[in-house]
Amino acid sequence: MSHLPSPLLPREWFDMPAGVYWFSHCKDGPLPRASAAAVRALMETELRPWEVRWSEDFLDVQRSLRQVGATLLGVVEQDISLVTCTSSGLEAVALGYPWQDGDEVLLPLGEFPSNRLPWLALARRGVDCREVPLWEGQAAPVTAAPVAGMTPEQRLLEAIGPRTRIMAVSWVRYQDGVRLDLEKLGRGCRERGVHLVVDGIQGAGTMVASFEGVSAFATGGHKGLLGLQGQGLLWTDPAFRQQLLPLGTWLSAPDDFSQGGTQSQSDELWAADGRRLEAGSPSILSCAALASSLRLLVECGGTAALQRHIVSLQRALLSRLAQDARWAAEAARLDALVRADQLGSTLSFALPTRQSDELLRTAQMHGISTSTREGYLRIAFHGWHGATDVERCAAWLLGTA
Ligand SMILES: Cc1ncc(COP(=O)(O)O)c(C=O)c1O
Repeated sequence: MSHLPSPLLPREWFDMPAGVYWFSHCKDGPLPRASAAAVRALMETELRPWEVRWSEDFLDVQRSLRQVGATLLGVVEQDISLVTCTSSGLEAVALGYPWQDGDEVLLPLGEFPSNRLPWLALARRGVDCREVPLWEGQAAPVTAAPVAGMTPEQRLLEAIGPRTRIMAVSWVRYQDGVRLDLEKLGRGCRERGVHLVVDGIQGAGTMVASFEGVSAFATGGHKGLLGLQGQGLLWTDPAFRQQLLPLGTWLSAPDDFSQGGTQSQSDELWAADGRRLEAGSPSILSCAALASSLRLLVECGGTAALQRHIVSLQRALLSRLAQDARWAAEAARLDALVRADQLGSTLSFALPTRQSDELLRTAQMHGISTSTREGYLRIAFHGWHGATDVERCAAWLLGTA
């Protein structure tokens, strides 16, 4: 394992004692110490509201979050809206889009409820939802795991019909770990006059996203982005944003709200930028935490460096497993997906329930945190992992620890 890179995010940046192996950022990312300190500092000012400075301690915290969020994602900050979570970002689109009776939304089969229920709720407005299997056997009674060479983007694009207005997909899927090619989907959707809306939470902070042809991208901040629950980001294409109902109120005006008591009079009620979709007062503590975490991710080289690092860790683990007859087939399936650029940061092993349950039981004894979803055992790599984590994980899975 000596050829493996050392962690991109030093372990000391986290409150992560030796013997703790956190492979579960697909569930919850750890908050870096620096972000906890940023929250504490702001909390101190909340104890004394007479010391809170409107610009520095409130508006600037939000501005810096939009700025660093845009830097990390590789977009412009004017297109970022602060939202509480992935769901609220997707709801802003689902509720704000100018639907007509009979319009249709396409979804991949097996989406997380955040990217399913907001669209199903539109049935009351006469909008239909259609769920599309992404690979052969996905929907069969005994479901088949995804394999390299499948073409989920093609299946989705071929499913577009005359009434399809929006295609809403998870960039990276929460259970099987499949990453869709946003560039391919974005191009195809644009050619067909369909808006591509993305649930980005399982990829944000660990993979490089393409925004070409995407109309909206929503992510919570508490997984790969290492923030707290309750703060996320919504990116919208400027022209698409103008089609949505502006949900913003007093913080969404073209000019900053005046604490002088007199509001500036403007014909424009809402700013044209991302603020037009922001609700009222955000959780400023969660904004500060997320801004601090994103700064660390940018400092360590951003998502391109993180993605390279993660892929090298994934391939190292899979090559260890490939040497064991019990794991060889699953390791080969996942390695082919990694090489085909079709996975996010999570390796999702399709295992019989009894084997997963047994592994979950022994994981605890080894200080390993992992999780299962829909029959997949999930091992998620991030910037703080290195050779030791790969060794430990291999020893646990192979039963040699
Ligand atoms: C694909 C996906 N979308 C959304 C969420 C969470 O949504 P929210 O940020 O609204 O809590 C999860 C959490 O597990 C997820 O895996």
